[in-house]
Amino acid sequence: MVKINRNYLKLKAGYLFPEISRRVSAFSEAQPNASLIRLGIGDVTEPLPEACCQAMKDAIEEMGSSSGFHGYGPEQGYLWLREAIAKNDFQSRGCQISADEIFVSDGSKCDSSNILDILGEGNRIAVTDPVYPVYVDSNVMSGRTGEADQLGQYDGLTYLPLNSENCFEAELPREPVDLIYLCFPNNPTGAVASKEHLEKWVDYANKNNALILFDAAYEAFIQDPLLPHSIFEIDGARDCAIEFRSFSKKAGFTGTRCAYTVIPRSLKGLAANGTEVDLWTLWNRRQSTKFNGVSYIVQRGAEAVYSLSGQSQTEKLVSFYMENASIIRKELSSVGYKVFGGEHAPYVWVKAPKGQGSWQFFDFLLQNANVVGTPGSGFGTAGEGFFRLSAFNTRENVEEAMRRIISL
Ligand code: MLT
Repeated sequence: MVKINRNYLKLKAGYLFPEISRRVSAFSEAQPNASLIRLGIGDVTEPLPEACCQAMKDAIEEMGSSSGFHGYGPEQGYLWLREAIAKNDFQSRGCQISADEIFVSDGSKCDSSNILDILGEGNRIAVTDPVYPVYVDSNVMSGRTGEADQLGQYDGLTYLPLNSENCFEAELPREPVDLIYLCFPNNPTGAVASKEHLEKWVDYANKNNALILFDAAYEAFIQDPLLPHSIFEIDGARDCAIEFRSFSKKAGFTGTRCAYTVIPRSLKGLAANGTEVDLWTLWNRRQSTKFNGVSYIVQRGAEAVYSLSGQSQTEKLVSFYMENASIIRKELSSVGYKVFGGEHAPYVWVKAPKGQGSWQFFDFLLQNANVVGTPGSGFGTAGEGFFRLSAFNTRENVEEAMRRIISL
């Protein structure tokens, strides 16, 4: 019989969101008339920006004509999209990122997992706690950790706790690490990083020859113009960081699929024989072998995000979700909940009341308010006692969910 990847057996239960779906399905079967409001998984609800739809319709017309048909595209993405990204997302903010350092893909979840393909197995890895579960699970699946302990923490990972005392900003690791996952604005806590905080990490990484994997999927939700959107706004980051970005949340592409990863040409890793190797070259090789690019139609849709109308439409989308976040913060605070995040991120991190555990509060809200959130403990041990509410929903649903919760 075929042998399986034994690392999968180390994984704790199901991936968080399928586990939530399982509990919600069981509840819905038992109470088919309950009207559920889902503020759990961060999935967008509002329609795609008109500019993106129009660009994709035009691209379909083109593909249906002999002169406009496209077969396989470049694995790295079409140059016109990479140029628009480099100019609008980086050069306009003073970052020296060029189009050829951008690799267009179908998602940051995939990229932040697949990046392990080009990294060696002996790296010491740091993750925050709580953390976006994909960073941990992809390391477990690829055999880079030992077993989980009783708390669910994997042997071989360095956990950096995030809590209200450190304002949800991790302290630098006490033991040496080679690979550091950072996510700002943060999923799940909704915290945002100042320039000084990122400088601290870039400085650490350069001094310790470490690599930062910087997930900036939620950068568009930053409201304060002085806060950095990219790690490449920090001097020295080109020598120590890879950044992941996504069109999913800012332009409603969760079902359309388009994202990108930035790998500076100057970034190096170490081969077993001690020579330095370009990470760009390895990722380019990996993508050319295992990936056939994002569809032409979708890349045209993503390009339209940078048109004048696309920019104003995506700004409206982002503002809409941020108003939802502000309603959640305001309503919950008004009845005494302790809330964090939600000011520069579409997630509000709520302290479960009366010392309840995360899953206990999840079940309580599901049963009594028919509102679905995400238990903080699903993101790590230090998330126990917290609960994440997503601002991605209709205004009506967010207001109704708040009415239900505050009346409990
Ligand atoms: C979340 O809810 O944390 C996100 O939807 C996950 C993701 O983007 O993959």
